[in-house]
Amino acid sequence: MALKISASSVAPARARVDVLAVPVAAGTKFVAGSDDIDTTLDGALTRAARVGGFTGKVGETLLVPGATGVAAKAVLLVGIGKPTDLTLDGIRRLGASMVRRLREHRTLGVNVLGAVPNSIDRADAVAALAEGMVLGNYQFLRYKSEARRSQLTSVSVLGASGTRVGAALAAAVVAAEATCWARDMVNEPAAVKSPADMVAAATKLLRGTPVKIQAWQGAELQRRKLHGTITVGQGSRRTPRFLRLEYAPRGARTTIALIGKGVVFDSGGLSLKPSNGMEQMKTDMGGAAAVIATMSVLHELGVRSRVVGFVPLVENMIGGNAYRLGDVITYRNGKTVEVMNTDAEGRLILADALVLASEERPDAMIDLATLTGACVVALGNKVAGLMGNHDAWISQVQAAGERSGEPLWPLPLPKDYRKLLDSEIADMKNVGGPYGGALTAGLFLQEFVDGAPWAHLDIAGPARAEGDDGYLARGGTGFGVRTLIELVTAFRKPR
Ligand code: BES
Ligand code: ZN
Ligand code: ZN
Repeated sequence: MALKISASSVAPARARVDVLAVPVAAGTKFVAGSDDIDTTLDGALTRAARVGGFTGKVGETLLVPGATGVAAKAVLLVGIGKPTDLTLDGIRRLGASMVRRLREHRTLGVNVLGAVPNSIDRADAVAALAEGMVLGNYQFLRYKSEARRSQLTSVSVLGASGTRVGAALAAAVVAAEATCWARDMVNEPAAVKSPADMVAAATKLLRGTPVKIQAWQGAELQRRKLHGTITVGQGSRRTPRFLRLEYAPRGARTTIALIGKGVVFDSGGLSLKPSNGMEQMKTDMGGAAAVIATMSVLHELGVRSRVVGFVPLVENMIGGNAYRLGDVITYRNGKTVEVMNTDAEGRLILADALVLASEERPDAMIDLATLTGACVVALGNKVAGLMGNHDAWISQVQAAGERSGEPLWPLPLPKDYRKLLDSEIADMKNVGGPYGGALTAGLFLQEFVDGAPWAHLDIAGPARAEGDDGYLARGGTGFGVRTLIELVTAFRKPR
């Protein structure tokens, strides 16, 4: 069930909730807003902390039964470490650790704002807290027959008032819920998310929004010369689709193109992947899910730019009609590519999308793709690779990631490496040498960008989490959704 989060001006001690969460700084220091509760309880919280060995370290929690003077049935002490060290992402984690700890309870009052340092904007702090709580409450239980579902239904953020704070809170919940939709899609088995199923899921999600949906298949893909998508998808009985999504608010003066890799399952094709870990390749549509999820909230968030989404959807399989090594693809813009590895399929379908997007002359474009294992080797599974053709746009993207708590790190696109993609018979081949795989993949994509400032996010690492961690749950992370939302809401035409 969706978690309801609202701002409340009720005094903490009077909040009628199952649990009242109060922040405690390192060294068991009761910060403003929680000190008076301890006083109300005659120092009961201080004593409980001492007995429970609670010191106020980041992530530490201790549940203390309620007492007269406090309306809540129990009080949760939440460690925040050194208050001046608190960051927006720290607040997200704080939100997550509270809801994780209180899943068995129904209603929660949170009184953490007194602990937020002045350097952090109040509205930003409340937004981060709400995001952390919605994301931390996420569970994917669809296939668990004996699920222990979170019982939490509502959270009151105490001491949060004002329309600006309320609006920031509401927007944060919208962004976090969109992220949860993307997580769900990534976590679903490939068997239930064929390209056609993805179109159906997107259509359902976008119902009631002003986003215009075009879903192309079969002859329509041929007519539009989307040969990368057709070729990669031809080995699967579940045929490819291509989604074009358009949000065009009245009076829009700028256009942004969002592109997402939608490989619903990447077996590697004839360049078959090893069996070990192959199940993770259901994650290979994480970029597509991020784009679709973002498109679904643009209207609700009052985004003023026009935003167009391009999402190629395929399944990369082996089979009698699968594409082969040595095959040549001729793209819509006339460029030709020799396939040297059918497992480098993402760039082949993204090329279609980049050409189409370029034709619409957007003010900026960005693609998200679980593109290379090499990027995971370089940056690990928390940081996405960031490449592009325009420094100001790259900086804008990186700043959006920073604000969202989705770290993006710039990687170069060295001109000198372009020759690694030279082909014997075509304009280029789809793989470079053994080294610098994230960069040669980026250089390949760049060949299909025409004119617009473009950024590329290689999210192969952070699209999945190997364990519960902060506000991430094991499995799909929905990485990119919050950065894209931040990017389109605060969009400035890059110069
Ligand atoms: N989907 C994979 C990339 C990937 C790897 C995503 C690990 C998530 C985790 C992509 O299609 C792929 O297979 N890339 C190849 C490219 C190589 C053949 C040039 C890779 O990285 O090995
Ligand atoms: Zn692949
Ligand atoms: Zn792939």
